Amino acid sequence: MPVISIRNLTRTYLIGGDIEVQALRGVDLDVEKGEFVAIMGPSGSGKSTMMNILGCLDKPTAGTYILDGDNVSNMSGDERAAVRNLRIGFVFQGFNLLARTTALENVELPLMYRANVPPPAERRKMCIEALKRVGLEGRIDHVPTQMSGGEQQRVAIARALVTKPSIILADEPTGNLDSKRTEEVMELFNELNSKEGITTVMVTHEPEVAVKCKRVVLFKDGKIIGDGTPDEVLNKMAYGVIR
Ligand SMILES: Nc1ncnc2c1ncn2[C@@H]1O[C@H](COP(=O)(O)OP(=O)(O)OP(=O)(O)O)[C@@H](O)[C@H]1O
Ligand SMILES: [Mg+2]
Repeated sequence: MPVISIRNLTRTYLIGGDIEVQALRGVDLDVEKGEFVAIMGPSGSGKSTMMNILGCLDKPTAGTYILDGDNVSNMSGDERAAVRNLRIGFVFQGFNLLARTTALENVELPLMYRANVPPPAERRKMCIEALKRVGLEGRIDHVPTQMSGGEQQRVAIARALVTKPSIILADEPTGNLDSKRTEEVMELFNELNSKEGITTVMVTHEPEVAVKCKRVVLFKDGKIIGDGTPDEVLNKMAYGVIR
């Protein structure tokens, strides 16, 4: 059974009550456990819209989304929030860390939103373990302004990992990083995927990021127009076979 199974998914935004924008127009996608998928495509092609639905931040207008065997497309906002907290780790382009808040406290946040908040000592242990996994055990008490961009993104990855999610969703996680930090962050994602089998779906505009993934799904105008190994899809893009 795939971790993610999507059928005929559409998302239409209404602007000003009467203008319709069709951000997704009938998407089918299966992602198996342990896959490492890059989502590519031009600006406005629906990538973030797709990620928001995958992450249960948003609901499709029509179509189905089965996550780990559960139909999340029919769930209420509260139910989706619970699914999100327990099963999904998010990483954003802008890190989205709380300022003036230590790495440890940032990582702790998703645990604080749980129905059953773990006791303080247990929380601390979980957070330190997550920070160790991203190589930041030496930065536990640093606030974001005392860390490099790459370190901040690794704190954000630790925050995504602390709940032991079944999938990690990352929307342009290297978009604000220079090439060296991009490489480091991609190495970390790769390691989490290959050693711990964490299913990862990542939006990127950068071919050098996409080649580090195992599969590339290409969006255009709210539809999937390419799906294959990074080599296959990037070659077709380069030669204009996929437009
Ligand atoms: N909240 C919204 N209300 C109305 N239209 C929206 C909204 N969010 C996105 N759109 C529109 O839906 C389409 C898809 O947007 P989306 O953000 O998914 O694109 P994207 O592929 O992530 O682009 P980028 O690479 O620039 O991040 C665009 O035409 C966008 O203008
Ligand atoms: Mg986007």
